[in-house]
Amino acid sequence: MPKVNVTIDGHQVQAEAGVSVLQAAKDAGMEIPTLCYHPALKPMGNCRICLVEIERQRNLQASCVFPVSDGMVIHTSSPKVKEARKFVLELLLSDHAFYCMYCEMSGDCELQDLSYKYGVDRIPYSYNYAWDPVDATREHFIFDPKRCIRCRRCVRACHEIVANDTLGIMDRGFESKVIADLDVPFGESSCIACGTCLQVCPTGSLTERTSAYMGREAETTRVRSTCAACGVGCGLEAVIRSNNLVRVEGDWDAEVNHGLLCVKGRFEQLKSPDDRYLTPFVRNRGQLRAATWDEALALVAERVKQVPGQAVVGLASPKLTNEALVALRDLVKGVGGEHLGVTSGAFAELP
Ligand code: FES
Repeated sequence: MPKVNVTIDGHQVQAEAGVSVLQAAKDAGMEIPTLCYHPALKPMGNCRICLVEIERQRNLQASCVFPVSDGMVIHTSSPKVKEARKFVLELLLSDHAFYCMYCEMSGDCELQDLSYKYGVDRIPYSYNYAWDPVDATREHFIFDPKRCIRCRRCVRACHEIVANDTLGIMDRGFESKVIADLDVPFGESSCIACGTCLQVCPTGSLTERTSAYMGREAETTRVRSTCAACGVGCGLEAVIRSNNLVRVEGDWDAEVNHGLLCVKGRFEQLKSPDDRYLTPFVRNRGQLRAATWDEALALVAERVKQVPGQAVVGLASPKLTNEALVALRDLVKGVGGEHLGVTSGAFAELP
């Protein structure tokens, strides 16, 4: 890709020709606020919070959709830019039920963070949001239209990532709202409850039932893992607080699924977190007892040595990842065995 030279806030920066001003700034380690932009989605430029001043441009420009060109001079936080962003926030908040103390996303809300950052201490306009009822017809999450800022991240995720096209926008201006199909309740729509919309929502408009009020981002840790709901091996992030699984999110960087999860992977794993086996078990005189991994693996190694190679059979759950199955196959072959059985929910028991 050819490079162009641009100046951002007085710094000389090289950027790939054709990338957005926002991307060029990000690549140079500079921050421009965003709301409708999400790295997993195509930029749309509809919230206008990412406005920047570009010399020789008549108006402020949305940096997420404005491409860089050679010699461009950009100001990302001039007084004019800051004033425009505050104005945008005031307009968004005039159309938004900002009862933040009751909102599950309070503390993690991108709109709240920006309002604080730009010193929005009052709304100089009358409130225009409609009291549309909360849609609680889905099993795993609820939708509150009053908290929606119509950034369309959910609509684009449903189209671009999930390709289900359940979500859309109805009407225009203050009347516009996110709808499912032809404005039917979520639970009666073609929604497949994958929860991708939930993961990209910047406010508390879409709220997961199980994880609501279970911990803010700063109180949780994230662990990258592989989904155990089936053998596809989707990448996920387990969000954990005090050693408990709070929620599951798709891993945007995972090559298998690029952040997309199914209803099983995202929600159903939360149903019985207490039933997990945390240690291996060994059978002793007919009784199973918990053991350490060292003890269990030493026992398996000892038993495998005692039988002729071809009598060794590996049985594995189909929920294991391809990598785990290949490792088990190699192990079985390595000791002279020939078969690897994959059986639903079963685990091997040595005689
Ligand atoms: Fe650029 Fe919304 S983030 S217009």
